Amino acid sequence: MKLFLDTANLQEIKEAVSWGIIDGVTTNPSLIKKAVLSLRESDAEIDIESYIKKILATAGRMNPVSLEVPGLKADEMVEQGVLLYEKFDQVAGNVVIKIPVCTLTTKGEGNPFDGILAVNKLSDERIPVNATLVFTPEQALLAAKAGAEYVSPFAGRIDDSIRRRAGIDFEKTDYFPSNGIVDESENYLTDHGLFSGVDLVSRIAEVFVKYNIECEIIAASIRNPIHVREMAEVGAHIATIPYSVLKAMVLHPGTAEGIDSFTGDLVEEYLSLFSSDEKECSEN
Ligand code: E4P
Repeated sequence: MKLFLDTANLQEIKEAVSWGIIDGVTTNPSLIKKAVLSLRESDAEIDIESYIKKILATAGRMNPVSLEVPGLKADEMVEQGVLLYEKFDQVAGNVVIKIPVCTLTTKGEGNPFDGILAVNKLSDERIPVNATLVFTPEQALLAAKAGAEYVSPFAGRIDDSIRRRAGIDFEKTDYFPSNGIVDESENYLTDHGLFSGVDLVSRIAEVFVKYNIECEIIAASIRNPIHVREMAEVGAHIATIPYSVLKAMVLHPGTAEGIDSFTGDLVEEYLSLFSSDEKECSEN
């Protein structure tokens, strides 16, 4: 399973890449805004073009970086996707264009199939596309049929929406059971027939396997380490992970206790192996 970093923060990308575990990066307009706001705070002159180039170079040649188009109409999304690709892919050959699977707004404005149309046109131009804001297996299927190389199901937001509609208070990082939750009458709470974000990813994976669809699933909107574990179990090809969640993935109290006890048990005889005298002796 590949691990992407879900951020536009260059320092976070630099650090996580240095650990040797990052296979790609995903950004979106909200993540870019966050990065720009923190740059503004540091009073640095913001040159967004060179900032994005640094992200691409830091992620590395083989590691795809998703950049999202701002437009909502098919023609403008295609134009912006081509612009982003032509401007930035030359840096490290790793640009992927992020296109919303459907650009209809909550007010019902827009053309529902403009996203799919843009995915199709960019894919025909051999520009790799990550179809984003996927909330159902049906949307994933449409995006894959249109030629998307990746689909990004927003798992965490499914869990958020189920809890919100049930009036449940929760923190963003709280665990949500992958098999769903029930109301007081023991009825399962669902979103478009889905029990959870993990269920969404699992069902997309099932369909893609059944029909040999080559499109890769990027489990997105990841909330905590157990979310990553469950995405791996249900067959996500990739999880795109916020920096804070990635850092939490390496922690366990048992590991820390083990470190304490092993460190406390170190005997001089063993430590002497690593002393400079011992090293010199073995070299001579
Ligand atoms: C990644 O591609 C998505 O844009 C991101 O995971 C969304 O995460 P959020 O639901 O926490 O905003």
